[in-house]
Order: sequence, then C-alpha cells, then structure tokens
Amino acid sequence: MNKSVGVLTAGGDSPGLNAAIRALGKAAIGAMNMNIIGFRDGFRGLVENRIVRLDKQNLSGILTLGGTILGTSRDKPHRMNIGGKSLDMTDVIVENYHKHHLDALVCIGGGGTHKNAYRLLEKGLNIITLPKTIDNDLEGSDTTIGFDTALSIATESIDRLHSTAHSHHRIIVLEVMGHNTGWLALGAGVSGGADVILIPEIPYDIKIIEKSILRRSRGGKNFSIVVVAEGALPRKEGEKLAALVQKKRGAKSKDEKEQASKEIQMLERESAGHTMRLAHQLEERTGLESRLTILGHLQRGGAPTAADRLLATRLGTACASFIQEGRYGIMVASRGQGVEAIPLADVVGKRKVVPLDHPWIESARGVGTCLGDGQTLV
Ligand code: F6P
Repeated sequence: MNKSVGVLTAGGDSPGLNAAIRALGKAAIGAMNMNIIGFRDGFRGLVENRIVRLDKQNLSGILTLGGTILGTSRDKPHRMNIGGKSLDMTDVIVENYHKHHLDALVCIGGGGTHKNAYRLLEKGLNIITLPKTIDNDLEGSDTTIGFDTALSIATESIDRLHSTAHSHHRIIVLEVMGHNTGWLALGAGVSGGADVILIPEIPYDIKIIEKSILRRSRGGKNFSIVVVAEGALPRKEGEKLAALVQKKRGAKSKDEKEQASKEIQMLERESAGHTMRLAHQLEERTGLESRLTILGHLQRGGAPTAADRLLATRLGTACASFIQEGRYGIMVASRGQGVEAIPLADVVGKRKVVPLDHPWIESARGVGTCLGDGQTLV
C-alpha cells in the first residue's frame, strides 16, 4: 500500500522552507507514490486538524517563495494555548495522526521544533525532521535551511552601511539575529568586513572596543562598523549567564531547573536593548557619532539563496527516501556534500555554538577584527 506522510513547518519561518516542502513532496509523490498532507501553522494545525493535501499542482512554483505555504507557529504540543488555558494536546495529536493513517510525520524546524517532535516520537509516532533555522544552531547538521539567505542579507546590509558610515564619519552598530549563538553575526561580519564583531560565545569588554575604534581613527579611519549578535553580552552579564546555564544543566531537581530558567529569563529581559546602550556608550567614549540599525525580520524574509534552495532540495528528497526505507526517529542532517540520518535523541536539547577555535573566529582575528576580548592577531 502507498505510504501516507504528514508534514508541518514550525518555529520562526526561514527562506527555503517551501523549497524543502516541494522537494519532499515531489520526491514522495512522483518517485515513490506516497500521499502527502500538510498541517497548517505548525503543531497547532495538527491539533485542530487543519490540513492541505499536497499534490503536483500546489507543490509547483514554490521553490523560490519565501515563508512557508503551510504557515507556522511557535505552539508546543504539551503546552498549547487553548481558549486562554495552557493544555497538553499531545494525545489529540496522536489521535489525529492515526485518523489520517499516517506512516510518518515530517517536522521542519529549529531547536524548539526538535524538542516538540521528540515528545511525539516518545508517544510512538514515526517522526523525521529537517533542520531549519536562520540561526544555524542545530547540533548535528553542518548548516541549516535559511542560514545562508540570512547571512547574505546581513552581509549586504553591512556593505550598504559602510558607505553611509564612511560618509558621515560615524560608528554604525548593526544588530543581527542568531538567538543565543553568533553564527550569523560572525559569518556576516567577516564577509562584510566589519571592524568589530560581538557574539554571545565571547562576552565583550567595552573598553577594548573603544580602544580598537580609537586606534582606527588615529590611523585615519573615522568610521567603524560594529556587528552585534542579538545574544551578545558584556563580560559581566555574559559570565553570569554562562554560570546560570551551567546551574540549569547541573540541576538535581525540577524546581532547581525551573529556578535557573527563571533567572536566565530575567537576565535576558534586563539585557534587552543592550545594542542601543552599546551605541550610546561608544559615542560617549569615542566622540564619534553613533547610529544603531536593527536588521530584525528582514533577515527571514524573501527568496532563498541558491545555496539554501540546494540544501532544502537535498534534504527534502533524502527525507522521502528515508521514509521509503522506514527509517524514523531521525533528523536528516547535512554533512559535507552529503546527507546523514542523525538519531533525534542526539540532537534534542543541544545547541551548536561557535567553537572558540572555529576558522571564522581565527580569520576574523587574522584580519584584525576586534571581537571585544582584546585578542587580535594584527
Ligand atoms: O530562531 C530564529 C529567530 O529568528 C531568532 O534569530 C530570533 O531570536 C527569533 O527567531 C525571533 O523570533 P520571533 O519570530 O518570535 O520574532
């Protein structure tokens, strides 16, 4: 009998989601004769049984479209807002999965989606995931769908900020996304030739940034581009956060874990708007006029790059083959030029941060970029 497959997209949208849906759908329907249904708006559509049948017609013409034709949400199956109450809807999801006689459910998403997908795997569903996030912070996959596009958008923004910063002799601070990792800021900062790059993995010292900007001024460069990851923090707060994350990891009880989570949330709330503060502080300390640009959701909008289309098509078609072989409980990861099936248990709850000896960090230091910690090679 033909296999039936459900697919949903969850978490923040990313360019390349439609390319992945298309690849999975075309391979599954065309080459393997499967039936595919899409659930709307992430796990919520699975609870509310809102579906769209995917066929050759509606899978056509979507390769280059940004967003997701299925819609997305950040709803969690075990804590869903239903009429103002937070309810565990996992059993409803299991029921609906069986109602549609699904052989597998494909969840396309980032860290949160993987945790949610794993919960459904534990309930006995055949789950398979595709890694998608502009943050590139999923363990197990070299890269994730959407990252390359966001990187290109952020890089182009730095290029454009250069001419205006240069003309006005200003410091321009550019805040980019990335959640609690610095992949996007570091990648775009190196590609765009930023003078200072600040990432969560390297808590920064404002005095060191001041020194590096003033040194540039003395050398005749009266402008600077400072690229900051949204999660980057000054040294004191960064060290406090690292200690809290350790505390949460080492927690011996649920209460202890919840307490650490609360403290982390509080610190993150207190740090909101830190890039504005940074721009003000740099203006005061250097005497150079400063401006702040927050790139925000522009990084998630529009058509995917060629690299993201290729990645989404590779992962989507490989996903169809894994379903055909009956391999579940896995994430379809990108490894080198190929694709690997990684057990979901090895991915869930882990965050891929930028290693301090990563070649991008070494290259940034090599060209004299200040990373806020005083270590530069030139
Ligand atoms: O995870 C992707 C991401 O874009 C992060 O970089 C950012 O912190 C977050 O989502 C923003 O989420 P929202 O869609 O709720 O604004």
